[in-house]
Amino acid sequence: MPLFSIDQEKCKRDGICVQDCPVQIIVQPDKDAFPAPAEDAAEFCINCGHCVAVCPHGALTLSTMPIDTCPPLQKDILPGSAALRQLLKARRSIRQYKKTPVPHSILAELIDTARYAPTGSNKQQVHWTVFENPDDVNRLAALVVDFIGVTLPFINDEDTAKRVRRIIAGWDNGKDRVMRGAPNLILVHSPADLPFVETNCVIALTYLELYAYAQGLGTCWAGYFTAASNMHAPLIEAMGLPAGHRCYGAVMLGYPKYEYKMIPQRNAPLTTWR
Ligand SMILES: Cc1cc2nc3c(=O)[nH]c(=O)nc-3n(C[C@H](O)[C@H](O)[C@H](O)COP(=O)(O)O)c2cc1C
Repeated sequence: MPLFSIDQEKCKRDGICVQDCPVQIIVQPDKDAFPAPAEDAAEFCINCGHCVAVCPHGALTLSTMPIDTCPPLQKDILPGSAALRQLLKARRSIRQYKKTPVPHSILAELIDTARYAPTGSNKQQVHWTVFENPDDVNRLAALVVDFIGVTLPFINDEDTAKRVRRIIAGWDNGKDRVMRGAPNLILVHSPADLPFVETNCVIALTYLELYAYAQGLGTCWAGYFTAASNMHAPLIEAMGLPAGHRCYGAVMLGYPKYEYKMIPQRNAPLTTWR
């Protein structure tokens, strides 16, 4: 089967698909010819779907991407720049959660949305593990605290050691500074031997976090967990990732207990203009 087909009734031979293809595998020898796949098209296609998405006439069908999986873009419901900027400034790290876990359907929608994040060469090798049960999240937090305890004697820097001692003391007093009592945890992971793997995972998790905020949920990056996640054998076992995968990030998730009314100040950007 050819990589793509052209509906000759619809195609206006405007060459837009030819110009937009990021790997230049669409050929149109002259302006009267219809676009066609280059000889090596299947080998180099990254399946990004730009050719389908950019055609103003709906004339191109990619064999790997049935047209009913490519809905029309609803420009009228896109947020304006002011709305999006406000959302980006208003998102906060949430550290006080209600106990109610996030329903499965909402968790699934967050992940479904995050799969539209960009990935290097459109590889889409971002994997997710979702802990839906608050008891499991708490058990993971306990394992992180165990790990922190094991590392404490090897920490030379006194400031770090102090912070670590506070986490352990807090845990012993019923204060969870690792997972903040969040009912859910979402991990992002991938085979460790792919290019741009960490970047891909972090971008996807950032997409997820922002969409979660737009859905009225709260998130917080689980830095202590992520640091421990690829080093502590009991934690590695509890995560249950496929062989060869590394965890590149995690967010705690749940319904926020409190609402923020103001936007806190941030440092001036560290920019070099040339
Ligand atoms: C990579 C990363 C790791 C983080 N790890 C933690 C963490 O383990 N615990 C925590 O309470 N906050 C964690 N945070 C949240 C930051 O402290 C927070 O983003 C920062 O204070 C700014 O606050 P804001 O997110 O509300 O704007 C982490 C953030 C990032 C980006």
